[in-house]
Amino acid sequence: MCGIIGYAGKNQAIPFILDGLAKLEYRGYDSAGVAVVGSDGNLVVEKCKGRLQVLREKIANGDIVQGCVGIGHTRWATHGEPSDINAHPHISMNGKVALVHNGIIENYIDLKKILSENGYTFKSDTDTEIVANILDFYYNGNPLETIQKVIKMLRGSYTLVIIFEGITDKIYAVRKNTPLIAGISKVGNFVASDIAALVSHTRDMYLLEDDEITEVSSEKINIYDIDLNCVKKDIFKVDWDIKSAEKEGYDHFMLKEIHEQPRAIRDTINSRISDNNEIILDNIDLDLENIDKIYILGCGSAYYVGMAAKYAIEKSCGMSAEVDLSSEFRYRFGENTRKMNPNFSGVKRDLRVNKSTLVILISQSGETADTIAALREVKKYGAKTLSIVNVVGSTIARESDYVIYTRAGQEVAVATTKALTSQLSLVFLLAEYMARKLGFIEDTTLIEDLKKIPEQVENLNKSENKIKSYAEKFKTSDTVFFVGRGMDYPVALEGALKLKETSYVHAEAYAAGELKHGPISLVEEGTLVIAVATQDELYEKMISNIQEVKSRGATVLIITNEGNTSAEKVGDMVYYIPKTHELLTPLLSVIPLQQFGYYSAVLRGLDVDKPRNLAKSVVVE
Ligand code: G6P
Repeated sequence: MCGIIGYAGKNQAIPFILDGLAKLEYRGYDSAGVAVVGSDGNLVVEKCKGRLQVLREKIANGDIVQGCVGIGHTRWATHGEPSDINAHPHISMNGKVALVHNGIIENYIDLKKILSENGYTFKSDTDTEIVANILDFYYNGNPLETIQKVIKMLRGSYTLVIIFEGITDKIYAVRKNTPLIAGISKVGNFVASDIAALVSHTRDMYLLEDDEITEVSSEKINIYDIDLNCVKKDIFKVDWDIKSAEKEGYDHFMLKEIHEQPRAIRDTINSRISDNNEIILDNIDLDLENIDKIYILGCGSAYYVGMAAKYAIEKSCGMSAEVDLSSEFRYRFGENTRKMNPNFSGVKRDLRVNKSTLVILISQSGETADTIAALREVKKYGAKTLSIVNVVGSTIARESDYVIYTRAGQEVAVATTKALTSQLSLVFLLAEYMARKLGFIEDTTLIEDLKKIPEQVENLNKSENKIKSYAEKFKTSDTVFFVGRGMDYPVALEGALKLKETSYVHAEAYAAGELKHGPISLVEEGTLVIAVATQDELYEKMISNIQEVKSRGATVLIITNEGNTSAEKVGDMVYYIPKTHELLTPLLSVIPLQQFGYYSAVLRGLDVDKPRNLAKSVVVE
C-alpha cells in the first residue's frame, strides 16, 4: 500500500526521497509525488499518476525541486481514482502545509464541512487533502501544538508526514494504526513507513508508537507524546541482509524468493531444534494447561497458514483450534457482543475470548490492519497472544505477549512465497512443541522430516521446468479449479490465490468433498483442475473426486506423494513430491503451485512482482 518517506538534512532532499520511494515500490502503488520546503520557505509539490519513473522524468531527477527537507509518497488509491490530482503530497489551500498520508480518515466528511463553512475549497477527492487543510486552519505557528490539536480530531488510521511553510529545517510525523519509523544517519535523518526505505542509509531506527509526534531535523529526532512531553526511546538496530532488496540476477523477486525458500526455512527452524531434537521456541512460556480455547487469525495467505496450523494443532494436541480471517473475527468478538447479566445466579459461561484463550496471529509484515485490530480486541479480554511475524519490530510483534519470528528475510514480491513456507515450518514446530508440553509422545519423525524439507524444496526448484511446461500448455485457460482435502485444502486455496494474484486467471479452490455441491456444474471439456492429494487416509476419496471431474471433461493435474503411481491412471498429468511426514506435506506441495502462478504470469507477459490493484502490506481495513 502507500509508501512514505521524509528527509531532513544538510543535503538536497529529493535524491534521498526518490531512492527511498524506489525501495517502497514493491508495496504496490498507482501514483507518486514529492514535496520540499524551498530555501525561500515556500512549499513546492510535484506529483503524477503512474510509476516512479514518470515522476523522475517530470522533476528531472530532482533538479527542479530544491530543498533540504522533503517528503515523498507512493499512493495506492482508496479515496478517489489514481490521478495526478489525487496523488500525494497534498498542499493546503493557503499553501501553509503539505503532507503525505497512509491510511483512511473515517470522519473526513465532517471535517470537510467545517472547512467548507470557513471558505476552504478542495481540488482532489481525497481524505488526505482535508487533513492538510485542517492543519492549515488551526496552524498557530507552532507545528507541534497544531498537530496535537488536529490528531485529536481525526478518526481512522494514518501515518502523516508534514512540512510547513517557512520551516526550512524540519519535518513532522505522526501515526495511528499504520506503521512509522524514524532513522538516524550520517547523511541526515529520516522517517518512513517501512524499514526497507532506509536500510541503505542506516540500521539505527526508532520504532514510533500511535499518537507520538516526531520532529526531525538534520541534527536530531525529537519524539513527543500526545501531551507534548518528550519521549525517550532506545535505538532499534535493524539486522536485515541488504541483498534481500536486490534481484541478484533473477528476472523477478518472486522467482528469487521461490528459490530462497530452502534458506528461509532452514534459518527459521534450525536454531529452534537442538541436536537431540528438543524444540526451543525463543522465550515462549505458554501455560497450556490453563488454555481451553485456541483461535488462529490472519489475512490472505497467512490465513491459509492458519488453516494448516489448525489441522496440525488438532491432530497433534488433541484440542480443537478455530481459525478465522482477522477481518471477520475482529467484529465477532468486539465490544458489541452480548453481555452476561451480572445478577444471573446460574453457571456463567463466558464463551467469548478470555484469560484461558490463546490467540495465535500470523502475519508476514506484522502491520496488517485487520490483524492488528483483532490482536488489540482480544487483548482487551485478557487473552494470551502469540504472533508469528516476519518483520522484526513490527506492530503485531511488539504488541503480542509472545512473538516467534520467521526468518525469511525481506520479501519484496507482492505474492508471498518464502514468508508462507517459513510460517508453515514454524506452525508445525509450534504444534509439536505444544503437543509435547501437553504430554503427548514426541513425534521425532516429524522433526527429522522437517529438517529434510529445505533440501527437498531445493530439488523441487531444480525441476521447475516441468511446471513451466504445464503453465505454457494452459496459458490461455481462463478458469482453473484447485481441490484438496484435509491438509491439502489450504494448499489448494493458496495455489488458487497465487494464480489469481499473479496471472489474473479466475481460479477457485474447493474442499474436494464440496465439488458435488455446486462447483462441478462449471466443469466442462478441457477445464483445468489441479488436485492436491498427499494425505494417505484421504487419497482414495480424492481419486474418486478426480474421476468425477474427469468424466465431465476436466483435464487434471494431480500433485501427490512419490509412490502413488495409481494417480497416473486417472490424472492427465502427475507431479510427485518426495515422501515426508503427513503434516508437513504443504511445505512441498505448495512449491509447484507457486511455480505455476509465477510462470503463468510470466508467459502472459504480466508484471509478476507488482500485480494490478494489489499491495504487499494491507494497512487499511
Ligand atoms: C496481502 C499480501 C499477502 C498476505 C496478506 C496478509 O494481501 O499480498 O501475500 O498474505 O496481505 O499480509 P501479512 O503481512 O499480514 O502476512
